[in-house]
Amino acid sequence: MKEVKIESKLYVFDSLEETPKEIQNLMQFAIEARDNAYAPYSKFHVGTALLLDNGKIVSGSNQENASYPSGLCAERTAIFYAGAKYPEAKVLKMAITAASQNQKTNKPIPPCGACRQTIAEYETKQDKSIEIYFMGETGSVMKSNSLANLLPFGFDFSNL
Ligand code: THU
Repeated sequence: MKEVKIESKLYVFDSLEETPKEIQNLMQFAIEARDNAYAPYSKFHVGTALLLDNGKIVSGSNQENASYPSGLCAERTAIFYAGAKYPEAKVLKMAITAASQNQKTNKPIPPCGACRQTIAEYETKQDKSIEIYFMGETGSVMKSNSLANLLPFGFDFSNL
């Protein structure tokens, strides 16, 4: 038996203002998308914006349903839209923000497991890493250079 170590590196910016201007701009689209969330059940509003290599910015928000599992997270709403509308484009960067109606979210909100698996598929499809930035409503911003850092030892086509 031998040990296998998997290392994952993430970066933290103290605030959005500390991130590059391009990211501040992308996060602004995520904030606007967040305001369009349909989250009457959780009261937890999430917005995501994607910068594509064709220059387009695509965004999405979480869309809930009275039948809870039928709802969809913001990240998947956005990336499925990008895949459906611009199938040839590569996703370069992704910004995520979340705000709760119950309390102030001042720490970075990472994408859930199902979203990580979905984003991983697109990273594989486009054979290019996606830079991911995530934050709460305020406070620090975390950056991952690739989805792979958030989902080590993930399942993909090579396992089929
Ligand atoms: N949610 C997202 O939109 N993205 C995530 O990565 C985590 C959770 C949404 C789903 C649901 O509408 C609400 O946040 C509470 O879980």
